[in-house]
Amino acid sequence: MDNTFEPKIMGFLCSWCSYAGADMAGVSRMQYPANIRVVRVMCSGRIDPLFVVKAFENGADAVLVSGCHPGDCHYATGNYYAERRMQAMQRLLDFFGIDQRRFRLTWVSASEGARFAEIVSEMTEEVRALGPLNLVEKENK
Ligand code: FES
Repeated sequence: MDNTFEPKIMGFLCSWCSYAGADMAGVSRMQYPANIRVVRVMCSGRIDPLFVVKAFENGADAVLVSGCHPGDCHYATGNYYAERRMQAMQRLLDFFGIDQRRFRLTWVSASEGARFAEIVSEMTEEVRALGPLNLVEKENK
């Protein structure tokens, strides 16, 4: 196995909670791997499952979707929609030949910087052990 492999994790974070949580981790100088690339969205309810599929298609080894805790969405129910959509999408990952451990849906509040850092660290370790996804190579075979 390639010991130099560094997973590319695409993170879709809602602006009000998870993005603020990531910011809190940064401001508090918490250490976590620099493997995540963040896209800030207004609400997790805005995240189309196709965003996740596209991220994998374009080279992500894993995708994290994170929003406000249930009951805390600033648009009332966006995260409930996100949860249902992402659960349905996750079941389709096998169909695409993608291990379900490469996708996570989490809830992180603005004050949970430590939780955000922990999630990214865990996910990086897990995906590092899984190895590169190489979906593009698989498609071309
Ligand atoms: S505003 Fe954060 S999940 Fe809706």
